[in-house]
Amino acid sequence: MSDGRRRVKRPEDLRSHRWFGVDDLRSFGHRSRSFQIGFSREDFAGKPVIGIINTWSDINPCHTHFRQRAEEVKRGVWQAGGFPLELPAISLSEPFQKPSTMLYRNLLAMETEELLRSYPIDGAVLMGGCDKTTPALIMGAISMNIPAIFMPAGPMLRGNWRGNTLGSGSDAWKYWAELRAGNIDRQAWGEIEEGIARGPGHCMTMGTASTMTGIAETLGLSLPGSSSIPAADSGHARMASYTGRRIVEMVWEDLKPTDILSADSFDNAVTFAMAVGGSTNCIIHLVAMAARAGVDLPLKRFDEISREVPVIANLRPSGKYLMEDFYFAGGIRALLSQLAPKLKLHCMTANGKTLGENIAGAKPHNDDVIRSLDNPIAESGGLVVLFGNLAPNGAVIKPSAADPKLLNHTGPAMVFEDYNDMAARIDDPNLPVTPDSVLILRNSGPQGGPGMPEWGMLPIPKKLLQQGVRDMVRMSDARMSGTSYGTCVLHISPESYIGGPLALVRTGDMIELNVAERRLDLKVSDEELAARRAAWTPPPPRYQRGYGAMFSQHITQAERGCDFDFLHAGAPTPEPEIH
Ligand code: FES
Repeated sequence: MSDGRRRVKRPEDLRSHRWFGVDDLRSFGHRSRSFQIGFSREDFAGKPVIGIINTWSDINPCHTHFRQRAEEVKRGVWQAGGFPLELPAISLSEPFQKPSTMLYRNLLAMETEELLRSYPIDGAVLMGGCDKTTPALIMGAISMNIPAIFMPAGPMLRGNWRGNTLGSGSDAWKYWAELRAGNIDRQAWGEIEEGIARGPGHCMTMGTASTMTGIAETLGLSLPGSSSIPAADSGHARMASYTGRRIVEMVWEDLKPTDILSADSFDNAVTFAMAVGGSTNCIIHLVAMAARAGVDLPLKRFDEISREVPVIANLRPSGKYLMEDFYFAGGIRALLSQLAPKLKLHCMTANGKTLGENIAGAKPHNDDVIRSLDNPIAESGGLVVLFGNLAPNGAVIKPSAADPKLLNHTGPAMVFEDYNDMAARIDDPNLPVTPDSVLILRNSGPQGGPGMPEWGMLPIPKKLLQQGVRDMVRMSDARMSGTSYGTCVLHISPESYIGGPLALVRTGDMIELNVAERRLDLKVSDEELAARRAAWTPPPPRYQRGYGAMFSQHITQAERGCDFDFLHAGAPTPEPEIH
């Protein structure tokens, strides 16, 4: 796959040498127990031990193929002279886990770091793809900082209903609105349910999964081209074994995450996210990953890059096509080749070559799917950061997936106290809303959700749907699925649960959204807001015990990436003593 870099490690330099290579009683135990598993001395002696972190689970449809892919990774590791060990980790299945997989992203990050630290691992293959698995695995691997390579799950194939292409999430929201408006029947809805997810792999729109696996590749943490390959394609299996071969070389070369990640590589990742109209979720994850790597990535950097980078991937929910079309159009290498003037091409990547070397010669095979910089689907602003008295620490919106005429809008607030309140009242025929209303959902942030669930695409009230309304201005401290669309202001910080200004809004207050000016303002006087703040009573923490209690005590707000405060980069964690 690659001629990589120069070998700098000898077998006695390997981390695993302390377990397997020395002549003492403890290593007697490590070796004899390896024989008990059925391994022979020649399987492990002097070889890099590769930990394959596998987030397979019966309940994760996006990782259904991971049992098989782990075998293919192992084949590559054996071929390259390594010793593969599969380490299962929590799966974070987006469709099933409640209240939100985001509650558990940091748990998987901690599990990844501690698996790699506590076992005799020299290098890691990180198998992920379903939304939060990608940032979680990478965050843990950065903190451990041994050679690591990310193996993306790959998108699933296109969905189909009566000959119409269906995209994950996006078309579920679309046809749900049509069902509620009375435009399709239950029979059609059932057929859509059976046709939208046709095989293994993650969501095949440019949702959070495709955004994050593309970001991982752009950062340099995956093999070039790997993130675009559909999960069901035989090329995906071959990529898995290449990944296994390459990680062994990376160990000998001592190519670690901190040798790859830099302020420039994070700029490249943000540039990629803007160019594909990526998921708003990526902002939180990128901030968290950068903080693990010791790189400062403030929200304003996203906005600076957003102004410079047009949206050139014509992919849902911002555009028309799906990831399978993107793959056949040349995939991420072709996209990055179009973006080259905006990228820092000197950045190092997992195959030992620079980003510029990896995309040399790539070009799109379909210029409607992957556009050029002078023929974009939007001139700029894939993702935009807003500030104002309603969001002193920031909020985000994805203008490319919104109705352009709502991007400069002033309207009266319709406040829902929490998700249950919203669900109970949104379809009430007497709800006092008009198409100009601004729907507000609070208590859905990092602490309030808890875990910042993807509730930010509030449903359009039924009575407005029946009038033909398909978009409204919606605001919350929640996140939104990367497959969602609409004029949804998200991640409002500080969140309402801890007394952010969102907690002070009342139904009928006027709110102004001005995306061009990056502003989000509550048109209420400072004196009135101060009086409301004085009367506000903080609610108790959501959790009194267990993981949730630790989460409540240590979770940071959205602009700091929602990582635990004690997991940011800092003093090194000691290696375990081998006694
Ligand atoms: Fe797994 Fe969308 S549900 S990526």
